[in-house]
Amino acid sequence: MRMVDLIEKKRDGHALTKEEILFIIENYTNGTIPDYQMSALLMAIYYQDMTDEEITNLTLAMANSGEVIDLSHLAGIKVDKHSTGGVGDTTTLILAPLVASVGVTVAKMSGRGLGYTGGTIDKLEAIPGFKVELSDEDFVKFVNESHVAVIGQSGNLAPADKKLYALRDVTATVGSIPLIASSIMSKKIAAGADAIVLDVTTGDGAFMKNLDEARRLAKTMVRIGKLAQRNTMAVISDMSQPLGRAIGNSLEIIEAIDTLQGRGPADLVEMCYALGSQMVVLAKKAETLAEAREMLEAALTSGAAFAKFKEMVANQGGDLSVIEEPAKLMTAKYKIELPAKTSGYVRRIVANEIGIAAMMLGAGRKTKEDSIDFAVGLVLNKKVGDAVTEGESLLTIYSNTEDIAEVTRLIYNNIEIGNQVDEPPLIHDIITE
Ligand code: URA
Ligand code: CA
Repeated sequence: MRMVDLIEKKRDGHALTKEEILFIIENYTNGTIPDYQMSALLMAIYYQDMTDEEITNLTLAMANSGEVIDLSHLAGIKVDKHSTGGVGDTTTLILAPLVASVGVTVAKMSGRGLGYTGGTIDKLEAIPGFKVELSDEDFVKFVNESHVAVIGQSGNLAPADKKLYALRDVTATVGSIPLIASSIMSKKIAAGADAIVLDVTTGDGAFMKNLDEARRLAKTMVRIGKLAQRNTMAVISDMSQPLGRAIGNSLEIIEAIDTLQGRGPADLVEMCYALGSQMVVLAKKAETLAEAREMLEAALTSGAAFAKFKEMVANQGGDLSVIEEPAKLMTAKYKIELPAKTSGYVRRIVANEIGIAAMMLGAGRKTKEDSIDFAVGLVLNKKVGDAVTEGESLLTIYSNTEDIAEVTRLIYNNIEIGNQVDEPPLIHDIITE
């Protein structure tokens, strides 16, 4: 087989066979197929799409490109959760310990930032010392003893996805249903959880801009999960404006700590309860969503969830002193308020553009090799539906450079103030089949 022929086949809109997909994934993972050919294939997939059968074959080839963790000897139902990406989406940092604190076993594999979206693994690395790469033994040990561990993709878990993810990020091939579905589900299958809650985002800040696309992505992933014998469901959530208030790595760690201490922004808290209740029910720790939610509310109020977060940080080598004193993470040189130019109501905060503004400050990567500045980012002081008066701060910019003219222009262009509007709904749909 020659890669160039397979690129041509996909470019012309034909379906690739199982053998062809295996050939591509094996040889891209072992370095025989170069990035430039893979980039061309990704772009062809982006435009030509894939059949359900191709997506399933791609997912399984990616999952089997490395080790598949076996958690079956651990007691209980192991649950994982994954988002298709968002801006300021601090959910996992809160949800993993929250759900673990009511006895659900969370074996979670998270990603790095992709395009204008942030990644949980980058955020966790903002905690000094926090290890996102654990040996399989440590991962299993923490999951077993503490009911929670959050890891990045170590070299041997779905290595095909690890390489493809980084390549897609810089070749404008992220927002494709077959590529997102196979990326997420290959990792979920390799990480060994029995049940999976998917948070499929939709809106400006998501890769799926409209509800129909989000539904198709959700259904595709739920189907693959079930084929792989994982009990899978999806929540379609709104990502038209950033979630919560903080966008940026350290800032989101602080937001997570605030939330775990009962001072979280309403939308973020609600999202954690909504996704968390589904996880608790899938793990069979509660019969109904209402019962699950009561358990989670009690764990948040009692401090049990925050204690679990500290346990997770300690297990994974993180510096607990910054968790006790989050102000230590506020190290950006400049803190600049951005005043509203007119009075009225906030009508739109275009999430992807705000994500790009945070990335320009250094919170995300522009190329594969870029490093991240953990300290920088944005904190929204107003959200959609809020009233604002001229001169009042719309958001706070945390920057390590004084030169923020371009960032400021981008933000102003993407926050609309005018007549009153309703807050957007947080959850659009729930997909179980
Ligand atoms: N998250 C992933 O893990 N992969 C994608 O492709 C998009 C979001
Ligand atoms: Ca946030």
